[in-house]
Amino acid sequence: MHLRNFSCRILGRLVPAATRRAARAPSLGRTLCTPPVREATNARVVDLRTDSRDEASAEMLRYMVEEKVTMKELQDHAAAMLQMEDALFVPSATMGNLVAVMAHCSRRGDEMLVGDLSHMHVYEQGGSAQLAGVHSTTLNTLPNGTFDLDEMESKIRHSYPKLRYTRSRLICLENTHNIVGGCVLPLTFLKEVQALAARHGLSVHMDGARLMNAAVALGLRPATILQYTDSVTFSLSKALGAPLGAILAGPRDFIAQAARCRTALGGGIREVGLLAAAGILSLGNVRQLQEDHNNARTFAKGLLECDPPLFAVNMESVQTNIVRFHSKDPCLSVAELCHRMAQVEEGEEAALGQRIQVLTLSNLGNFIRAVWYPNVSAEDTQLAIRKMQYLASEYTRGGKNIPDPPYQN
Ligand SMILES: Cc1ncc(COP(=O)(O)O)c(C=O)c1O
Repeated sequence: MHLRNFSCRILGRLVPAATRRAARAPSLGRTLCTPPVREATNARVVDLRTDSRDEASAEMLRYMVEEKVTMKELQDHAAAMLQMEDALFVPSATMGNLVAVMAHCSRRGDEMLVGDLSHMHVYEQGGSAQLAGVHSTTLNTLPNGTFDLDEMESKIRHSYPKLRYTRSRLICLENTHNIVGGCVLPLTFLKEVQALAARHGLSVHMDGARLMNAAVALGLRPATILQYTDSVTFSLSKALGAPLGAILAGPRDFIAQAARCRTALGGGIREVGLLAAAGILSLGNVRQLQEDHNNARTFAKGLLECDPPLFAVNMESVQTNIVRFHSKDPCLSVAELCHRMAQVEEGEEAALGQRIQVLTLSNLGNFIRAVWYPNVSAEDTQLAIRKMQYLASEYTRGGKNIPDPPYQN
């Protein structure tokens, strides 16, 4: 089926039908945080929807069962690795961020400055307002995940403690930045933010769910990045491979307060030796993130080399394990393209020699987001490129002209 026809059909009956099919329970070994997708028979599935994995490798499972590791050992190990005074295990990066906000902003009505496209602002249900009583002022997120420092300075409540003003207390950064496509914050920016925060008596928290990707991309130790922040959350369960968990790290008194907040939120889980073992093993996986970055870049280049050139990617933003792209034809929506990538149509197997499904998710701003993690090999990446090439050529066979790109790559 040509994409041209596909556009018409998806707007009609097919969407509700697909949604009904998706209600099927997910199979074991699948990530549960993403909706199940119908698997075509004998198809090779390249799942690029998320690097948040809930399945553990056989090696990880063995380590979890056989090794006796305490949570204190994991926390001490993480603190040493980050060169922070102390660290705390939390079940998720979302909880780590919320606990950090609670510990930094100790008074009800305190304010944090946070990016308008940050995970903390967009995807964490406003937990800081809902549960911590913390007011947010948003900063305009620039295409590389940074902020304009003049804007930041102007938004601090300089008139506090006059009666009408809240107390600005915290600046939140995200590194790497998810929505802008895995961009790494430059060290010069971090240094300037730290200096600005110090001038105004604010703390700096980094949502570093993918901190290790940033460190690998810069070829630096995480501690070099963190010298400019007071606290950090990073995820053990993204591409590092633990089945769940995150680490919050910072000064000792901050972590003591954070531990109290974590308990109040129900995150003070006990008997967690298995998770501690998974966490320790995952911290040994940092170097392998480079392969994910290489695969993501190969895929992005492959998209640009498709003939005809149907896909647009800003290569400057492909710095780590995330690729954001869209079709150059505004008539081919992100939802349609995502859906088509996950399908295997008639004639495709003959053309590609294989049935290939590429699973992705749509992202804010009308983009598709594809994310790499260790289960996606270089070979999977090549298969995904072949599929995209097929879709591009199918598009012209369907008689479509590709309009000029919205920006040059
Ligand atoms: C930048 C960022 N921060 C925080 C989170 C939340 O992580 P978790 O699912 O562990 O709560 C995510 C999840 O994708 C993320 O991308």
